[in-house]
Amino acid sequence: MNERISALLKREPSQEVVQAEGWVRTKRDSKTVCFLEVNDGSCLKGLQVVIDKEQFANDALLDSLSTGSSVICKGPIVESSGGSQRVEMASLDVKLIGDCPTDSYPLQKKRHTIEYLREIAHLRPRTNMFGAVTRVRNTLSYAVHQYFQENGFVYVNTPIISSSDAEGAGQQFLVTTLDPKNPPLTKDGNVDYSKDFFGKKSFLTVSGQLEGEAYAMAMKNIYTFGPTFRAENSNTKRHLSEFWMVEPEMAFCNNDGNMEIAESFLKYLFKAVLENCEEDMAFFSKFVEKGMEETLRSIVDTPFVRLPYTEAVKELEKHASKFSFPVSWGSDLQSEHEKFLTEVVFKSPVIVTDYPKDIKAFYMKLNDDGKTVRGMDVLVPRLGEIIGGSEREANIDILTSRMLEMNLNPEEYWWYLDLRRFGSVPHAGFGLGFERAVQYVTGMGNIRDVIPFPRAPRLADF
Ligand code: 4AD
Ligand code: MG
Repeated sequence: MNERISALLKREPSQEVVQAEGWVRTKRDSKTVCFLEVNDGSCLKGLQVVIDKEQFANDALLDSLSTGSSVICKGPIVESSGGSQRVEMASLDVKLIGDCPTDSYPLQKKRHTIEYLREIAHLRPRTNMFGAVTRVRNTLSYAVHQYFQENGFVYVNTPIISSSDAEGAGQQFLVTTLDPKNPPLTKDGNVDYSKDFFGKKSFLTVSGQLEGEAYAMAMKNIYTFGPTFRAENSNTKRHLSEFWMVEPEMAFCNNDGNMEIAESFLKYLFKAVLENCEEDMAFFSKFVEKGMEETLRSIVDTPFVRLPYTEAVKELEKHASKFSFPVSWGSDLQSEHEKFLTEVVFKSPVIVTDYPKDIKAFYMKLNDDGKTVRGMDVLVPRLGEIIGGSEREANIDILTSRMLEMNLNPEEYWWYLDLRRFGSVPHAGFGLGFERAVQYVTGMGNIRDVIPFPRAPRLADF
């Protein structure tokens, strides 16, 4: 394999002839010399390739080298006399691999708006910003696996198609092969899903948690990392219809242990990008969210605030006039409330615990007060909720009555209830919205810009 441009840029000048492969970002000409900036996605900066016109190139070749074209360049890496780079390639040979017509290429040299780039999602990774997002996302993915592998968690792949509603919130996409115009019907006129592909009503999963719990009841500590789907009609800057979720699940663990792991996991991720994506993080700190690197560094060194929901509501009620949504005990925290707690009150990530049972999922462990559940959400400045999790209800009777209270049919969750029948233990887990993590560390304003091809209401292009 030939060296990537990131590696070539770290070389000391020498006479050794090396090869660079990539796409031309810019071309500048002087009378005798042509400068190409060639980028291959391995780092923010491109390699400056200097072509001596008289010696090495003909006019036809020089004309055909334009922004967007793909090239293979050969030559030694030498000290650069120019200002902004340490080394450059003194080209001995340039081959045009694929040309790129200047007049129809949608990426021009000028700065494009982020909305325009969203319309050309197949080309946007060729820009500085989306290249940087892609590398940071990659580093975070790797760090997710590193963290859990280093701490003895087993990676489990849970199904994408499932007949259970893991959140019990009815936000699922139906998976069917029935003819929508002429579906088979039951005697009472409903669609007969027993004739469908899976023999029952099936959906894209909203979370791998329930199946993850089954594996935690055997492997002790597991994690899943995969795509999840929500058919909620939320057109916001922090919601996607298809997003990736990281879900650890720990047996013999209560909610305190859960919070400890969530905090150390997030800090591990933040450190990973600070250490491995220095150049890209400097870019985000400068152009996207001022001082983001500094903010992350201080977060890594400071304990997160922990705050029971009841206390959070008391604090918010003092400032009720500042919000457009009312806040009182029993109501769910809105994004504006989450932001207020993290940005104004504590200026730090906050873990809110012990929410009212009626606003949380059926599986959360009921507290002794009978009113609240042992849930925890990690909130961060700018975004609000980044992690949601809980200790799970391990008592089969309480769990069954919670399902009934929430209009879920315990029979459909027979296997989940079995986990409480056979060797049940206290256990807990959480879900990190992976795109929210990418969004947070990069400072990107819209979640649609931190996943390659976003899916949202009325948006499934590419
Ligand atoms: O809070 P949620 O719904 O929790 C669960 O799904 C649990 N089963 C997790 C668990 O305990 N194993 O989702 C978890 C996280 C949220 O905190 C948020 O970061 C992210 O997933 N999330 C979304 N991200 C993007 N778009 C959406 N529509 C999201 N919905 C949730
Ligand atoms: Mg949640």
